[in-house]
Amino acid sequence: MNKFTPAKPAGIRDVDQITGGRRLRRMRKADWSRRLVQETRLTVDDLIWPIFVMEGKDLRQPIEAMPGVFRLSVDQAVKEAERAARLGIPAIATFPNVELSLRDEDGSHILDPDNIINKATRAIKEAVPEIGIITDAALDPFTSHGHDGILRDGIIVNDETVEQVAAAAVLQAAAGADIIAPSDMMDGRIGAIRDALDANGFQDVAIMSYATKFASAFYGPYRDAIGTAGLLKGDKKTYYLDHANADEAIREAEQDLAEGADMLMVKPGLPYLDIIRRLKDEFAVPTFAYQVSGEYAMIRAAAAKGWIDGDKAILESLLAFKRAGCDGILTYFAPQVAEMLKA
Ligand code: PBG
Repeated sequence: MNKFTPAKPAGIRDVDQITGGRRLRRMRKADWSRRLVQETRLTVDDLIWPIFVMEGKDLRQPIEAMPGVFRLSVDQAVKEAERAARLGIPAIATFPNVELSLRDEDGSHILDPDNIINKATRAIKEAVPEIGIITDAALDPFTSHGHDGILRDGIIVNDETVEQVAAAAVLQAAAGADIIAPSDMMDGRIGAIRDALDANGFQDVAIMSYATKFASAFYGPYRDAIGTAGLLKGDKKTYYLDHANADEAIREAEQDLAEGADMLMVKPGLPYLDIIRRLKDEFAVPTFAYQVSGEYAMIRAAAAKGWIDGDKAILESLLAFKRAGCDGILTYFAPQVAEMLKA
């Protein structure tokens, strides 16, 4: 009450009358009570760390639009995997930057048992057997056009691509991959990969389906990281989902589960929390989100400008995934977050 407070006209209720005596702020009054009623928590067990690998030795190439992220030669990738294991991060996901001379129209180098992905997997598995290794059985790092499939007369051909992806998955499993995570959105890839893995004795290798991967503007920095940015012509709308569609995302997830997916992934992350919640409610299976390169870049850039508190924004964004129903998150922030959670 001060001298400007107007007199109350008749009919204005006081707050207890308005709320019926309910005071929702009560549990927020102190740190201890806020902790007591906190519904969602983020732990190191929620983190999957995507890393970029390349040929060479002792190399850590910075990626311009992803400050703090590097393309790593295998020896460096092994070091980072060791660090991840020490931090308690359960799994890493590897993505290759393939030499340009090895890329062709069909992405055939994905079928080389000694390609950089398989080499990295073998080296990491040997040095750090306790960490989970997730590999992406998609063609885009291997094609001269940057698409996730075999290109014939301007069309990404589905069935031929699926056959190749399934064969690549077997090689990745043979190299030691624990989870195959195909990111290409071809029809039938999950069932084909499951068949191929089982037929080759890899019954225990799991499949994390990029079930709902949207044609998104947020993949930009990643394409720079794996060197497809300059190669890619056109867009990926004939295979990735229209970002306007949620029901279609449900159908994709349902199909992939029917074909044998063990886990689902939604990608990108933060703009698609509604999809995560719907998948979790609908299917109640292990559900993951990929906080993609563009999301990483936005937080890093704003934090570098001093426009947001980076650490707090990172933790808030990751907790949002948990609240939306995620069991875990692929995030380039993983080691930084693991450090923060320890402190
Ligand atoms: C393609 C693939 C993409 C990402 C991982 N694998 C998308 C694309 O290049 O179209 C994106 C990851 C990121 O942005 O962090 N199979």
